[in-house]
Amino acid sequence: SRRIVSGIQPTGNLHLGNYLGAIRNWVRMQDEMAEANRIEAVEGGSAAQNQCLFFLADLHALSLPHDPAELRRGTLEMAAALVACGIDPARSILFNQAQVPAHAELQWLLSGTARMGWLNRMTQFKDKAGKHREGASIALFTYPVLQAADVLLYQATHVPVGEDQKQHLELARDIAQKFNNDFGGASDDDGKGGTIFTFPEPIIPPQAARIMSLRDGTAKMSKSDPSEMSRINLNDDADMIMKKVKKAKTDAEPLPSELDGLDGRAEALNLVTIYAAMTNTMPADVLAEFAGRGFGQFKPALGEVLVETLAPITGRFAALLKDREELDAILARGAAHARELARPTLSSAYEALGLVRVV
Ligand code: TYM
Repeated sequence: SRRIVSGIQPTGNLHLGNYLGAIRNWVRMQDEMAEANRIEAVEGGSAAQNQCLFFLADLHALSLPHDPAELRRGTLEMAAALVACGIDPARSILFNQAQVPAHAELQWLLSGTARMGWLNRMTQFKDKAGKHREGASIALFTYPVLQAADVLLYQATHVPVGEDQKQHLELARDIAQKFNNDFGGASDDDGKGGTIFTFPEPIIPPQAARIMSLRDGTAKMSKSDPSEMSRINLNDDADMIMKKVKKAKTDAEPLPSELDGLDGRAEALNLVTIYAAMTNTMPADVLAEFAGRGFGQFKPALGEVLVETLAPITGRFAALLKDREELDAILARGAAHARELARPTLSSAYEALGLVRVV
């Protein structure tokens, strides 16, 4: 059976990069798992146990300077945004890390296994710490260990993420392997130790793994970009979306008929990629339709596709935000379920390390 686990930081707005790179895949996998469970139940096998856990990585948000009031508001908003995108709390376990202490506990238990050298290689730390490494928080450095805990805690088999999280997932596998090796006991003949943790597999969308900024085709679309014009937020209204697309950086050339005609045209490639992802086609199909036409024609078409697809999400989002009680209840139920699923793995990690807990 499969365990799908993934998270998102609840800081700032949910943007198109998050949606196309990750959340849309979460919804697809949720639907696939529900269908698999239904079929397994009909075939009368053991109780179907494919499960999806999606969480708000609020503990991760402490790694950069933050405002507590904004974090509180952002957490509820992100929960509403995910439900608006199609995460169904009846079929997926939706929660925030802060309500499941096992994440922070396991992070510490893994910290004896993770090596400084491994963390030193993380490109996201280098990007986010910038030139002032000495002033970066410890949390920013050890953040990937918490991320490893997030997935190993639930024996995740698959982790749907954008390209930028691939390195963190590789680290999670390295930590799992060394922990299994060092503390899994000599249960196997090959001397490799038992399996306390499952190796998680990243699931990265082939087409929209890396959506770029609308202002700079070499920088990823990101919540932390100071320019609002660099990203489309899922709660932007139609006028705002049209305006952002119209102002997006491009070049003066018309669209080519072949993909290699986009070489060296990062901004143009990004807009074509977004169009293809939003219409569930391939960039080559988009070029077949728009070859020879300039951005004066392509941009309004792209804007319309975005408005049409995002309108229902925006509508649901606005409605959900008004129901604070319902959002609290969704997160509380999700967290209770997650705590239960986390317990056995957390106990075996304590046990394997020789930590005495009389319960
Ligand atoms: P975060 O909050 O930055 O982003 C959430 C998801 O969106 C994807 N993403 C993108 N995909 C394509 N193009 C982009 N421009 C783009 N920007 C963001 C990210 O790859 C991610 O999948 N550390 C994680 C959160 C996290 C996590 C985890 C994820 C914490 N624990 C465990 C998976 C498993 C983060 O900061 O993602």
